[in-house]
Amino acid sequence: MTKIYELKNVSKTYRNDGKEFEALKNISLDVEEGEIFGIIGMSGAGKSTLVRTLNRLEDVTSGTVKFYDKDLAELSPGELRLVRHSISMIFQSFNLLNQRTVLSNVEQPLRIAGVPGRKRRETAMEMLKIVGLEEKWNVFPARLSGGQKQRVAIARALAANPNVLLCDEATSALDPKITGEILELLKKINVERNLTIIIITHEMSVVEKICDKVAIIDNGELAEVGGVKEVFSNPKSAAAKKLVFPSNPFAPSSEGGKLIRIVFDGTKSSEPFIANLVEKTGKKVNILSANTRSVGGIGYGQMILELPNDIRDQEIVIDFFEASGLSVSEVDINE
Ligand SMILES: Nc1ncnc2c1ncn2[C@@H]1O[C@H](COP(=O)(O)OP(=O)(O)OP(=O)(O)O)[C@@H](O)[C@H]1O
Ligand SMILES: [Mg+2]
Repeated sequence: MTKIYELKNVSKTYRNDGKEFEALKNISLDVEEGEIFGIIGMSGAGKSTLVRTLNRLEDVTSGTVKFYDKDLAELSPGELRLVRHSISMIFQSFNLLNQRTVLSNVEQPLRIAGVPGRKRRETAMEMLKIVGLEEKWNVFPARLSGGQKQRVAIARALAANPNVLLCDEATSALDPKITGEILELLKKINVERNLTIIIITHEMSVVEKICDKVAIIDNGELAEVGGVKEVFSNPKSAAAKKLVFPSNPFAPSSEGGKLIRIVFDGTKSSEPFIANLVEKTGKKVNILSANTRSVGGIGYGQMILELPNDIRDQEIVIDFFEASGLSVSEVDINE
């Protein structure tokens, strides 16, 4: 595996009018070639700041951002220009040139790179074909839907033949159906062109649908990073739990009642293990919250259960779930 990005202890402090704000705190992570890497977090967490350090639209205050082993901070202006050619970006607001046709928009990076007219048009048409918009080549952006505009932006991004595509909330302005179509297109491009894609989003569903890895950014810090399946099936940090299993307003029905969280993976989710518990042990639990989701076609989930009051019964229930291969942890009610 080749590392495309290596971030080591990246921090970013904004300074305005004598005020300081630490937007990124000591972030270290790697992105491998060919991955779809998600960066997720609440609004203001620092996601856009982080993605802007990846093409040096933003200089880091400390730490290093390496792109293929090259420290971006150490590049000469000429080298930086070259590197930026291999890093394309798409945005929530599409950023198309409204006075130009679709084709001319897609030709833009080729024009900048000095590609001659005929070759430029050929390549641009090829890119429009990839995104399924070749028949709109002569239309102006104002006549396109949001989803179509983002397809044009993707075609333009691809025309530069980049090594990596950065997407900052690229689907946030689109409805769920169109979002799904754009994500499918990105996945197709990732597979067919082996293009590394970094996706910034505040939506879990986006990460679930297409990302291989995910980094959770919380308040400028890296709360968790790993495979999507690992992180989403068994979130460890408080920030990850909050994202994966949002607001569980549960409380035990009796004072001092004991709650457990059971986390199960795809192979287990289809088993009726609560029914099995009752059948095999005769003990009952109270389901306070249940949350399952599908990641890459495999179900994951968790349940918050209230245990029986008797301590021996509690042990029997926990033993049963553990023997079934489920991960069981006690829930702190104030969590
Ligand atoms: N140029 C700037 N000067 C000062 N503070 C900034 C600047 N840009 C961003 N910030 C602050 O840094 C923090 C992180 O901003 P950033 O745009 O990276 O968040 P985000 O995770 O992308 O949020 P959103 O989901 O709303 O896009 C915010 O508190 C923001 O106010
Ligand atoms: Mg942002």
